[in-house]
Amino acid sequence: MLRACLLVLALLLAPFISLAAEGSRTPMPVIEKATAGTTCVADPATMRRTHMDLLKHQRNDTVRGGVRTGASSLKACINCHASQQTHSVVQAETNFCVSCHSYAAVQIDCFECHSSKPAGAAHTAAAPAVQTVGAK
Ligand code: HEC
Ligand code: HEC
Ligand code: HEC
Repeated sequence: MLRACLLVLALLLAPFISLAAEGSRTPMPVIEKATAGTTCVADPATMRRTHMDLLKHQRNDTVRGGVRTGASSLKACINCHASQQTHSVVQAETNFCVSCHSYAAVQIDCFECHSSKPAGAAHTAAAPAVQTVGAK
């Protein structure tokens, strides 16, 4: 019985131990620069900590309250933070929303519905089949 428990414990801990070992070797994520000459909706340190709350708050205002004028619009994030190369925030591993998230093992489903590209760039040839909310 004890042996079985230890085995289960070892199996449960294995991924964390190897992750911890990897952590020391993995470089910090490189975060792509936003459009030059712009300022974020809050200072970068605040954004790093609270962007998820801002986004969820704005979503609730829009979806439940019909308010579409808030500062923390997801479309606005993408306009400023899309990559110069892919014109997306999630297409390449280095793109803005992915760089940190894959480092922090955060998964978001936002781009199953929302376009990951600024409106003007949504129909370039290399674009993946992303559905733009409201484009129907
Ligand atoms: C008007 C342009 C603009 C908008 C809109 C904007 N940002 Fe930013 N954001 C910036 C700039 C400029 C910085 C500073 C760092 C840089 O130059 O890339 C920044 C920084 C950040 C950072 C910190 C990055 C780091 O280097 O640690 C996060 C996170 C962030 N923004 C998320 C968001 C999110 C989420 C939204 C939408 C709610 C958003 N931003 C909207 C321009 C913008
Ligand atoms: C199942 C589809 C779906 C998913 C998944 C989804 N959304 Fe939305 N979202 C919508 C729809 C529909 C609206 C309403 C658009 C409108 O009426 O303008 C909306 C509106 C928003 C708005 C307000 C409009 C804007 O551009 O600012 C924000 C912010 C937002 N969503 C953020 C998110 C975030 C963050 C995620 C991921 C955590 C997410 N959404 C996932 C469908 C979705
Ligand atoms: C500076 C690094 C960084 C950048 C850049 C970044 N995120 Fe995040 N994001 C995080 C971290 C770290 C978390 C997890 C925070 C936590 O769990 O407390 C997170 C969490 C989230 C969540 C909440 C996920 C959940 O399960 O509740 C959403 C939504 C989100 N980010 C959206 C975005 C979007 C959209 C972008 C691109 C516009 C973006 N983030 C860019 C670091 C970043």
